[in-house]
Amino acid sequence: MERCFVMLKPGVINRRIVGEILSRLEKKGLSLVAMKMMVISDELAANHYAEHKEKSFFTDLTSYITSGPVIAMVWQGDNCVQLVRKLVGATKVEEAQPGTIRGDYSLHTPHNIIHASDSDESAKREIGLFFKEEELINWHDDNAKWF
Ligand code: PPS
Repeated sequence: MERCFVMLKPGVINRRIVGEILSRLEKKGLSLVAMKMMVISDELAANHYAEHKEKSFFTDLTSYITSGPVIAMVWQGDNCVQLVRKLVGATKVEEAQPGTIRGDYSLHTPHNIIHASDSDESAKREIGLFFKEEELINWHDDNAKWF
């Protein structure tokens, strides 16, 4: 079982599409094991995007992510990181295929609506930044055989 950190960025709550996005991940068969609505501090934003701190867009990225409430989540399942990334789609809006979350809901790359860990290593680091171990709920999945 692999875990992936996923975050619905500011604007998703305003647009009233939280349920639609969660539904896509649920329908795939992935399991939600943690979720919280929060406003990210400047410090947490800088830590989360630390690998991009030299990039020209770093300030835009951290300003955007701290500009309103986000929904931080942990999803779990076999090959979770790879599958979530496929559902999320390419980062650049012009490359994100219709049918993917970014392809269907974003007009501008800097305002894409969702973040997902890009590797198992990133997932572990990001989950650790946003959640305590006791906040991850490993529930028994009676429907696992149907997925
Ligand atoms: S890179 O350059 O390939 O490392 O960048 P990438 O991995 O594609 O994206 C890293 C995160 O930066 C966001 N991003 C941007 N934000 C603001 N402005 C611009 N121009 C921009 N380009 C990329 C991108 O959405 C990634 O954040 P997340 O949260 O994963 O979507």
